[in-house]
Amino acid sequence: MKKNMFILLLLITNNIFSQELYKEKYRPQFHFTPQKNWCNDPNGLVYYNGEYHLFYQSNPFGNQWGHMSWSHAVSKDLLHWQHLPVAIKEENGVMIFSGSAVIDEKNTSGFGKNAMIAIYTGHTDTLQTQNIAFSNNAGRSFTKFNNNPVLNLHQKDFRDPNVFWYEKNNCWIMSVSHPVEHQIEFYRSQNLKDWKPLSKFGPVGDTSGVWECPDLMRVSIEGTNEKKWVLFTSQNSTMQYFVGEFDGTKFINENPVKIFKQDYGTDYYAAITYHNTPDKNPISIGWLNNWNYANSIPTSPWKSTMSLPRKLSLKKINGEWILIQQPVQVTEKLRNEAFVFVNKIVEKEEALNFSGQVFELELLFQPSSAGESGIKLAVGNNHFLKISYDATDQQMIVDRSQTNSSFNKTFASINTSSAKIKLQNGKLKWHIYFDKSIVEIFVNDGEAVFTTQIFPEEDENNIQLFSTNGNTKFDYLTFWKMKSIW
Ligand code: FRU
Repeated sequence: MKKNMFILLLLITNNIFSQELYKEKYRPQFHFTPQKNWCNDPNGLVYYNGEYHLFYQSNPFGNQWGHMSWSHAVSKDLLHWQHLPVAIKEENGVMIFSGSAVIDEKNTSGFGKNAMIAIYTGHTDTLQTQNIAFSNNAGRSFTKFNNNPVLNLHQKDFRDPNVFWYEKNNCWIMSVSHPVEHQIEFYRSQNLKDWKPLSKFGPVGDTSGVWECPDLMRVSIEGTNEKKWVLFTSQNSTMQYFVGEFDGTKFINENPVKIFKQDYGTDYYAAITYHNTPDKNPISIGWLNNWNYANSIPTSPWKSTMSLPRKLSLKKINGEWILIQQPVQVTEKLRNEAFVFVNKIVEKEEALNFSGQVFELELLFQPSSAGESGIKLAVGNNHFLKISYDATDQQMIVDRSQTNSSFNKTFASINTSSAKIKLQNGKLKWHIYFDKSIVEIFVNDGEAVFTTQIFPEEDENNIQLFSTNGNTKFDYLTFWKMKSIW
């Protein structure tokens, strides 16, 4: 009886604790965040037995980068997450840097049929090597391989192994980064323990920052049964993708030589994908922060958020392969009632009779043919986030310069992102997810994405439409207040 009372009390206090935990200022309500402590890159995204595993870079001891380990959460629907204990810990001064995870269906490694195997970088100040750890209980605990490292070039910068099973040649393929050289190297293995070099890709495209977190995957071409190979890299502090072919040895880029970005916003980095989803189409998750100020964002007791999971496809537009990204539809389950506005002509500025900081919004509008037009979110106390289309330069702009940035000078200085965007029949479609301190904007059904962090006060929650030079016609705006996943 006493024991039961104790358990009941524990459950109640746990519940109260967790409710308060997810109610802090700035805390996203439908994006993944750890309960507490620092987090960065998603790691080891793998699907197994009805569960999506999300491992991630974390500091189990504090809210700043350090003591890097793999923390762990699981989800059945990519929306609601259950936190699990830290999966792979820093040990003997070796930190556990980013990497991937696979299910060894054929027991190629000898760790057991369907063992979950994590492939990660072991980091010290002078050396980075590739290592493996295995789990025979669906990722609930891992054992580090006693013959680690499995790949050692005796280099200081050599990291972020990403592995998948390459059916065609019956082998594992690893992409791994030489950050300073701006190169991705491919390796092959029969057993995840012995690795043979195949080829290197790069430097090419964006080489303005060190290359990190590669991911090579096959993505469906919309409207066909075909697929092409896509390679992701992250270069401090944005991402780029290449589209082409992988022949078992090397990756051949087929896109023109220019920079193709997953996300034009200020806060999207280190995204990798679930390769082995039930329908075999990759789903990506990115880290919504920026190394230039990541440690200084004003959130506590946690730091950093993961993106909504994005499903990927390809479209050829004007001779270029474009990555189409759409949030997985399960977020629709969170919608409360809809607030709809139709056929609004805006001449200068108009406040909407709707407010909030946790909502999904879809809008279609015909920008004025001159000047800037669009929407302001988080309006209040002379602050706002401006999302606009500039007809003169035919570009879309996300401008957070008028939001609270007093906590950090670098955050204040990195305040605007923009990209050329083509109107469709003179119109622009935005699908916006506003979640307290996160704004993800999917443009024209996923042809471009902008993700940005903002840190508004709770009463900065009004919304305005604007048009600086001429009329802008808003065909419709549909808002849904969103339920919390916590
Ligand atoms: C990318 C990164 C990786 C590294 C990890 C360390 O954000 O720098 O290259 O493995 O973070 O936390």
